[in-house]
Amino acid sequence: MHHVIELLKSHVSVRRFKDQPVDDQLLQEIIEAGQHASTSNHIQAYTIIRVKDKGKRRALAKLAGNQSYVEECPVFLVFCADLNRLGRACKMYNKKFESGYTENFILATVDTSLAAQNIMTAAESVGLGGVYIGALRNNPEDVCYLLNIPHNVYPVFGMCLGYPEVKNSIKPRLPLSLVFKEDSYTLEGDAEILKNYDDSIRDYYIERTNGERSNTWTEGMSSFLKDKQRPHMKEFLKNKGFEMI
Ligand SMILES: Cc1cc2nc3c(=O)[nH]c(=O)nc-3n(C[C@H](O)[C@H](O)[C@H](O)COP(=O)(O)O)c2cc1C
Repeated sequence: MHHVIELLKSHVSVRRFKDQPVDDQLLQEIIEAGQHASTSNHIQAYTIIRVKDKGKRRALAKLAGNQSYVEECPVFLVFCADLNRLGRACKMYNKKFESGYTENFILATVDTSLAAQNIMTAAESVGLGGVYIGALRNNPEDVCYLLNIPHNVYPVFGMCLGYPEVKNSIKPRLPLSLVFKEDSYTLEGDAEILKNYDDSIRDYYIERTNGERSNTWTEGMSSFLKDKQRPHMKEFLKNKGFEMI
């Protein structure tokens, strides 16, 4: 298998890191690799904030539901979808920036995510590991206040990076035939395949947690999605300029 494919298939989220700093030059290379991700219409609608300040790290860890690795990891990045810079570009040519469009929200969020995943992969290619921190959206307004994040910009997620101290075994993904279809969307045969996948996820958790956790994938998803997901996001985004027109 090609080494890039091997690398991608060996991904695991890392939440415990060695007490070993990441070289600044290396980090910049990694971020630059992220910037070369495809970007809708070349809008490059994101800004990445590296948070070094210990007090801010502590506060972010707390805001993200007390995830201690946010404070402890060698590098913590906050990925922001950013239409503010584009608004300023419009101003330079006396053009009115039509803000608030759902489509532009999608562009900025997708751009941010593509760059982030390039960064994760680039980091993993040099022996680093990391984890996304979506829990920054538990308290997005406080995150914005802490990091001075302006109008038309919002924090999509954070990312911890560092040299792995502990690595979980690779978490099995859905069987290919469930996520990769031909010519049309079909559900044929999916139920049986999903059942087998449920069994493999249960085995994975039993092994990873020494029997403490034994849920299947469908059980996990049903208990996750029965709850209202961050209902404050709609109002938060609207106030930030993402009105979803
Ligand atoms: C956008 C996003 C947000 C995430 N947020 C968190 C988080 O707040 N805390 C955490 O521990 N893991 C977080 N994760 C990691 C996922 O739980 C993890 O990727 C998933 O369970 C698959 O496991 P793996 O990455 O080890 O293969 C996040 C992942 C993504 C893509």
